[in-house]
Amino acid sequence: MKPTQKPAKPVSAAGPPQDTNCPAAVLRAPEYVRAIAPYVGGKPIEEVARELDLDPATIVKLASNENPRGPSPKVLAAIAVAAADVTRYPDGNGFALKAALSSRLGVRQEQIVLGNGSNDVLELATQAFLRPGDDAVYSQYAFIVYPLATQARGALGIEVPAKDHGHDLDAMHAAITSRTRLVFIANPNNPTGTWLAGDAVESFIARVPRDVIIVLDEAYNEFLDPSLQVDSTAWISRYPNLIVTHTFSKAHGLAALRVGYGVMHASVADLLNRVRQPFNVNSLAQAAALAALDDVKYVEDSRRLNRDGMHQLEAGLQPLSVRRLPSHGNFILVEVADAPAIYQSLLRQGVIVRPVANYGLPAWLRVTVGTRAENERFLAALAMAQAASIGSARAH
Ligand SMILES: Cc1ncc(COP(=O)(O)O)c(C=O)c1O
Repeated sequence: MKPTQKPAKPVSAAGPPQDTNCPAAVLRAPEYVRAIAPYVGGKPIEEVARELDLDPATIVKLASNENPRGPSPKVLAAIAVAAADVTRYPDGNGFALKAALSSRLGVRQEQIVLGNGSNDVLELATQAFLRPGDDAVYSQYAFIVYPLATQARGALGIEVPAKDHGHDLDAMHAAITSRTRLVFIANPNNPTGTWLAGDAVESFIARVPRDVIIVLDEAYNEFLDPSLQVDSTAWISRYPNLIVTHTFSKAHGLAALRVGYGVMHASVADLLNRVRQPFNVNSLAQAAALAALDDVKYVEDSRRLNRDGMHQLEAGLQPLSVRRLPSHGNFILVEVADAPAIYQSLLRQGVIVRPVANYGLPAWLRVTVGTRAENERFLAALAMAQAASIGSARAH
């Protein structure tokens, strides 16, 4: 299949700024920066409460793939201790956290780059390896930060058509040219929840030229059934052009603290460390991540809760006759008759989900797996929203 050779997806034409009083410098900013369509996150609870005059305590947020349990009690205790000393700058090298990761993953500390969320590591990879004239390859429907970060460097995004909503590795391989410096793979992918078997990913990596960096983004890895998980960091010794990224935002419940990491060849890590800001991971985040890493049982329990919640959602969606994609993450994509209207109706009922029209999926909504009670709220609210939508269609 021929890849579509076009700029990174969320590009809007860089027209004149709306504000005619803007300084001339704004007009002289790189066109590729002015053309970036800003990232749109899940609506915060407080915003929905304010706009719709709802009690924030009654609102259920299933919009940003967070862990509905929050962090483990051990993590909260570690944060309280670290909070006593926020006067000093954090350890810019994250020694303790890197040491713990190093022994957990069986890699050297010099192979680890800590990030302000794994998003930071994705950005650092583009900063270190992309310049205008280069290109980066990623799949249609892949995590939106790949096109955004690519575009921010003035590089060209090569979006490869998806296969069954997931990555088409053969087509991605065919899209690599002499200009390609980076390839992104999300496994599992957000927002589709699609997943690639370890051997398929490894044989893809083996085919990628060594002068191209592959970023294997495993933000949702912990939610995979253990039988499907692979030790992808072990591949780095064979493929020194591989970067594997992980996060503490999802299964560990630390999204607000912003901490993640990448594992890579030491020489690649050295480059990323040159472009990162000196204190990119704060001290509370480092302490929390260290404690979270230790609480293996908490992550296992979170995986089980997610699996049970996923089954609950799948069963509950059945009678509502909506199409859904099988998901390996902590979220599920559902196709509804009128996504914007259903989204608004859910909001009015105090349930926040995520529209994904910006991914080219205008008929779908992404729903994060919540607690049992939150999932029930969502299913009941969706049934109401659909009934209202059918009623209003009949009235017209
Ligand atoms: C696939 C994927 N990768 C990376 C991230 C970045 O997460 P964080 O920066 O919180 O680690 C996300 C967040 O939603 C994601 O969905």
